[in-house]
Amino acid sequence: MTLEDLAADCWRLLAAAPGDRGSPLRTPVLATGGAQARTVVLRAADAAARTLTIFTDLRSSKAAQLAGDPGACMVFYDPASGVQLRAWGAAALHSGDAVARACWDAAPAVTRRPYLSAPGPGLPLDRPGSGLPDLADDLEPGYAHFLVVRVTVSRLEWLRLEPTGNLSARFDWPDGGKFSATWIVP
Ligand SMILES: Cc1cc2nc3c(=O)[nH]c(=O)nc-3n(C[C@H](O)[C@H](O)[C@H](O)COP(=O)(O)O)c2cc1C
Repeated sequence: MTLEDLAADCWRLLAAAPGDRGSPLRTPVLATGGAQARTVVLRAADAAARTLTIFTDLRSSKAAQLAGDPGACMVFYDPASGVQLRAWGAAALHSGDAVARACWDAAPAVTRRPYLSAPGPGLPLDRPGSGLPDLADDLEPGYAHFLVVRVTVSRLEWLRLEPTGNLSARFDWPDGGKFSATWIVP
């Protein structure tokens, strides 16, 4: 397999994950500046644009971190194949714009409902609770808190665990530069 084929394979894996609820690649870890990391749901992966999209709450810590520093890393691991993917890039934040509106309108109610939480993610409660109202037919007020994070990937690393010796490759898409790829020591 050539490095170009392998890069295309990685993007095929990523693009398939959002539509496959059973795929471990659907729930990567998103790391942001200052050693902050959390599990998220991958909502879309676009090989042509080299973007990875997640949804979050505008009031969350990660939103503030990315607003201060757009650098992000997303880590994916599929135990069945022993493949790890690490993707680095810059995050674009979309709230209240055409991108956010299109994602919101296409999202099922179960995805939109958490954005109604009060007082907001990470804030203390005096008893266990989701922060969600008991009855909410109108999910639209949550749109004010809805944030689409779209990471444009500039580096991707593939690693496959192998009993005979692990394998790894690195792919780079520098800003305005030429795609490059190399095998690396895992
Ligand atoms: C399986 C799983 C999927 C999750 N998906 C998301 C997600 O798509 N977006 C999100 O904001 N938080 C998601 N979370 C919650 C985050 O991991 C995290 O706890 C929360 O967003 C607060 O993170 P922050 O304080 O770093 O912003 C998910 C958690 C789990 C366990």
